[in-house]
Amino acid sequence: MRNASPLVASHTEDGSFIASDMVALLKYTKDYFVVPEEHIVVMKADSITLYTMDGGVEEPKMLHVDWDTTAAQKGGYDFFMQKEIYDQPEALHNTIMPRIHNGHADFSADNISDDIFKGVNRVIVTACGTAWHAGLVGRHLIEAMIRIPVTVELASEFRYMNPILDEHTLVVVITQSGETADSLAALRLANERGAKTISIVNVKGSSIARESDYVLYTHAGPEIAVASTKAYTTQMAALFALIGRMAVVRGAFNEEQEKAFVDALMQAPDAIQQVLDRKEEMHHIARGLLEAKDAFMLGRGLDYAILLEGALKLKEVSYIHTEAYASGELKHGTIALITEKTPVVALVTQERVRDKELSNIREVQSRGASVVVLVKDGIDLADADYTHVFTLPAMDDVAMAFPASAALQLLAYYVSMDRGLDVDKPRNLAKVVTVE
Ligand code: AGP
Repeated sequence: MRNASPLVASHTEDGSFIASDMVALLKYTKDYFVVPEEHIVVMKADSITLYTMDGGVEEPKMLHVDWDTTAAQKGGYDFFMQKEIYDQPEALHNTIMPRIHNGHADFSADNISDDIFKGVNRVIVTACGTAWHAGLVGRHLIEAMIRIPVTVELASEFRYMNPILDEHTLVVVITQSGETADSLAALRLANERGAKTISIVNVKGSSIARESDYVLYTHAGPEIAVASTKAYTTQMAALFALIGRMAVVRGAFNEEQEKAFVDALMQAPDAIQQVLDRKEEMHHIARGLLEAKDAFMLGRGLDYAILLEGALKLKEVSYIHTEAYASGELKHGTIALITEKTPVVALVTQERVRDKELSNIREVQSRGASVVVLVKDGIDLADADYTHVFTLPAMDDVAMAFPASAALQLLAYYVSMDRGLDVDKPRNLAKVVTVE
């Protein structure tokens, strides 16, 4: 019987199957159904029957995944996290291209009408963990391009904060699994309060996908490693495309601006591939962190949002206590922790705050920090002596999250691998948090 936690089921000539996640069924079948809340499944060798709680028989709504059976295998990689990092160019392409027609973002195939963008006077993004970080990047873009207020709420907070919502609020729920308990509760609250809801989800037919007014699927394929990578970059790509459409519908983009925005998104897969092609350079940088107990990541604006995810990646797979800091905030206390050789990763991709970021880097260098700089190609770092400089392929500032995130994912992966840790299944963590 299904009671809150996700359940999927299927029946083939080999018998009946039930699991918490479709990935577990993939080697037996690509056709399955989601067991609805408070329903009972009777499974026999030659049949499977779905019942409501009052004993009525219900016809299951069958779903089909077009993943090939190898999608949930390592495919020659050492770890799923490594494979999923390298899946990203294809995952981004599969997520972006079905939504771009003749150079315009177009969601008609997703049954997302332009009406969802009209009459909206504020946006609330709510999610957990990495998905929340994707929302932070989205907020920068929406506020910069469309000039409406956006808040990005942790779902575990949102569900208890008695939020102010109405029909003019667009609530965006971002989730890889579509089953995270806090995010599902946040969605249900938004629905109850009359907000318009759209979810960005990777797992077809999941609870959050089914209970949102609209759903925009990422086509990342199954993500097995606990540490989310391709789900994050495809969530950002989906947000990017939605924002492009919203800006056109609300008259915030002229033709030239729309073209530049869509072109930047279309370059994302290649920009990530360029970073992946230089993986050994990132592996060399990772070796400098192997003995670290603490690490800081510094950036401003969009760089700060990107580094919050970079810090989560590093801490959750390497167990190094890593904190991302808005570099302008460091001097208000935390710089007391910077001492000789403290590892610092600085991100410099946003031209308009470059000078300020460089001056903050010099502040930590003068206290002995060992600084690795990830910098957008073409930005002059001046002649300071850094431990390493990794140049990121240049894109429009708004799209730099794609190459920067790939570099930070590689950093985390190599530190964890070289520390001999279980990269795919870090201690204490589950892939889907279906409890509070
Ligand atoms: C990220 O690497 C973690 N696995 C975790 O923070 C995850 O992003 C979070 O639990 C949200 O999961 P969801 O996207 O499936 O809702």
